[in-house]
Amino acid sequence: MTQQWVKLELDTAAFDADRFGAYVTRCRDEGIALTTLAELGDTPERRRALYDLNKECSADIPERGEFFSYEEFCARRFDVPSYDPRGVVIALDGDDWIGLAVTSRHRDFVFNEMTGVRAAYRGRGISIAMKTFGMGFADVCGVSRMKTFHHPANASAIGMNRTMGFVDTE
Ligand SMILES: CC(C)(COP(=O)(O)OP(=O)(O)OC[C@H]1O[C@@H](n2cnc3c(N)ncnc32)[C@H](O)[C@@H]1OP(=O)(O)O)[C@@H](O)C(=O)NCCC(=O)NCCS
Repeated sequence: MTQQWVKLELDTAAFDADRFGAYVTRCRDEGIALTTLAELGDTPERRRALYDLNKECSADIPERGEFFSYEEFCARRFDVPSYDPRGVVIALDGDDWIGLAVTSRHRDFVFNEMTGVRAAYRGRGISIAMKTFGMGFADVCGVSRMKTFHHPANASAIGMNRTMGFVDTE
């Protein structure tokens, strides 16, 4: 399956912040708050909430299969040098976590681990708002490349990234 991934990359220095900032503004105008796990506080309870939201959204990734156990998730996402809570963007409707955009740090790029929006909130550009809000994480890490990859049937995720300026890469 690995050879079929759609691999995408963005030059964050060339990102059109003015154009996509409008998604952030619209999101907030509609009552959706954007923050990071670093700002909220990186507690065990919030890590569990992130897992629950990630698991729920991942059920809609084509051929994703069974999701990790919480222990596996922690080992892969939190207990690694690439983890940084400043790269974990959360969208909230009141107290409800309705979206996540998780980015990890690597030597010369940042990597979008997971972007997801709860089904009832989709179609409003919240994914673009979250990723735009989190774009400064690349600067924090001192890099200007953002990478991701998707299952070829995941048209909404691929389309969302292409809209933001991601292009195909090796
Ligand atoms: C992928 C996902 C995060 C997108 O969430 P969303 O914010 O509701 O996305 P939207 O439908 O508002 O689309 C955002 C933009 O993507 C583009 N887009 C969306 N669906 C598209 C499609 N089928 N084809 C082409 N472009 C598309 C559009 O440009 C759209 O913005 P616009 O309407 O202002 O032009 C959401 O569908 C999801 O959570 N899916 C399940 C989890 C998943 O697959 N995550 C990705 C793997 S990590």
